[in-house]
Amino acid sequence: MTDQSTNKDPSLLRSALVAAGVLALFGMIGVGLVASIASGTAKRIAENERLATLRNLHELIDEDTYDNDIFTDVTNVADLQLLGSRDPLPVYRARREGGPVALVMTAIAPDGYNGRIKLLIGIDYSGTVRGVRVLDHHETPGLGDGIELEKSNWILGFVDKSLTSPVKAKWAVRKDGGIFDQFTGATITPRAVVKAVRHALEYYELRRDQLFTVNPEIAK
Ligand SMILES: Cc1cc2nc3c(=O)[nH]c(=O)nc-3n(C[C@H](O)[C@H](O)[C@H](O)COP(=O)(O)O)c2cc1C
Repeated sequence: MTDQSTNKDPSLLRSALVAAGVLALFGMIGVGLVASIASGTAKRIAENERLATLRNLHELIDEDTYDNDIFTDVTNVADLQLLGSRDPLPVYRARREGGPVALVMTAIAPDGYNGRIKLLIGIDYSGTVRGVRVLDHHETPGLGDGIELEKSNWILGFVDKSLTSPVKAKWAVRKDGGIFDQFTGATITPRAVVKAVRHALEYYELRRDQLFTVNPEIAK
């Protein structure tokens, strides 16, 4: 009886090994390519997010007024009652020569007509609002969406306001005796936003120095 394996042509075995090697090489190149494309895409997404965040921040804080890297000078804070969130929300800090200039706080108005309204609120070190923008909401188009700057100038009504101007009782929509306009047929949305901005200012007043001094956390 003859042993079949010893009868195999060695050149066949070599060809098979070469083919397997070529396959493995292409496999490795493929995996490497996919990994490098994925890492390039992740970097591009991160950079796009950074630029979008900076665009939002610069609507509320003039770039010329600070000299630190506001995107990485972040701390995260949570307060259910005053910021509307149990989950930490980012606070971006603007400084000049190390001194505090302003903050951009994130806050949630929990009681919009259709749920949570996410806000960015720029606040001077002195506690004066530099501006407010709506980051996310589900309010009804044509009724509650006037809080978006693209739809109306209503949100600009917060500029230069503080906890003393107007006095606390006037931090309300006109229908409730305050100074802020409501929308025709839609009081719930502006009422929720006015309350959330006032609460954020109260949070700021309570924690101002802490907000500027705690160490930066990783930007999200
Ligand atoms: C389908 C529908 C959608 C509505 N969407 C909103 C809205 O997004 N924001 C809002 O303030 N009111 C909205 N309203 C109106 C409110 O129900 C409410 O009448 C209005 O805000 C006035 O509130 P007030 O009675 O507290 O002044 C909506 C009403 C309906 C029927």
